[in-house]
Amino acid sequence: MHAYGAAHEVRNEDLYAGLVRNGAVDAGEIDTTSPVGRAAQRHSLGKRKVRWIQQTLRQLGVIERVPGRRGVWRAVAKKELEKAPRNLVRVAFSTDLGLALWSDCSAFRRIDEPIHLILSSPPYPLSKARAYGGPSVKEYTEFICRSIEPLLRNLVPGGSLCLNLSNDIFLAGSPARSTYLERLTIALEDLGLSLMDRLAWENPSKPPGPTYWACKERVQLVHTWEPVLWMTNDPTRCLADNRRVLRPHSVATSKLIARGGEARSTSYGDGAHRLRPGSFGSETAGTIPRNILRIPHEASSIAPVRRAALDSGLPAHGALMPRDLARFLIEFLTPVDGMVADLFSGWFTTATQAEETGRRWICTEQMAQYVALGAWRLQDAPGFHSSFDLTRA
Ligand SMILES: C[S@@+](CC[C@H](N)C(=O)[O-])C[C@H]1O[C@@H](n2cnc3c(N)ncnc32)[C@H](O)[C@@H]1O
Repeated sequence: MHAYGAAHEVRNEDLYAGLVRNGAVDAGEIDTTSPVGRAAQRHSLGKRKVRWIQQTLRQLGVIERVPGRRGVWRAVAKKELEKAPRNLVRVAFSTDLGLALWSDCSAFRRIDEPIHLILSSPPYPLSKARAYGGPSVKEYTEFICRSIEPLLRNLVPGGSLCLNLSNDIFLAGSPARSTYLERLTIALEDLGLSLMDRLAWENPSKPPGPTYWACKERVQLVHTWEPVLWMTNDPTRCLADNRRVLRPHSVATSKLIARGGEARSTSYGDGAHRLRPGSFGSETAGTIPRNILRIPHEASSIAPVRRAALDSGLPAHGALMPRDLARFLIEFLTPVDGMVADLFSGWFTTATQAEETGRRWICTEQMAQYVALGAWRLQDAPGFHSSFDLTRA
């Protein structure tokens, strides 16, 4: 390990020579070969001993082979996350449209830029926090309100706040869910926001759970959705526009329109809904999406980032938002020249989608390694520039 600490990548031949030089192994042991095994092939017993230790270190996860280079090994990069020092705000990278800050989200206190959409997936109040930590249920409302408040100052009239939260926070030792979401919603109302909707993000790729209550005790169903709390500071001037997110008509609807609409005259729901000849017959630009959004985590967009993380020894992120969810919310809630802000950016999914849809963006993320991967994702964006040594992470 001393050898791997001193140099980044070490060839085995240099390793043997170094070990002989500092007396850890006998030169004779390295240089002479002896018959080994049934085939009695000749090997250096000294080198085999070193390689045995190498394998042990590999299994412990402290060294690894350098991909594509035979007989070359290196120390595994430090996996602990590096938090931005208190009160430090560093521009990690920027593009023509956006600004990524390596800092605590309180950096937004120093920013005076009108914001059209605050879109974020904050750390959930999990009983076993993720690698990047997070507040407990008890601290949650205070934590979110304190973090969001500086951005609300800059939210333009009719701007929106969207928070992807968890519905699966349970009371200790109980199959009952916490009502922290309700408490948080009311606290955000007290900050001047109005509830537009609790969109349901149905995630077919969500791992089955809650394991104990659904699979062992059988008193719960398997969860599959997460709420997206959508609020605005001025519902009468809300900037949402569903014409920006229309879906193609289904085959049945297209056929109905082509036929000139309904032929029947009827009513249902005790007269609440009426059908007349011609109903639903007008040509429209598309179908208005329903408020249950079925969006899987598409492996194809995340696999290259995970590979980049692996190749550069950076830790994987355990809680990403799917690209299509971020894109949908940005297009629905932000005018094309609008500004999107994410205070808990992770691997910068919000920024990638703001960038791709032509919106401006400002994002903060506290962990250097996640910022580095965000930069990797956005490196081809027009005007990409970074003065942050992203490899240091
Ligand atoms: C659920 S993840 C966000 C993932 C992101 N939506 C994505 O898809 O790439 C939450 C992130 O918030 C970051 N975070 C937590 N507290 C923070 C704070 N006070 N300031 C800035 N970032 C913070 C964590 O490091 C973590 O990466």
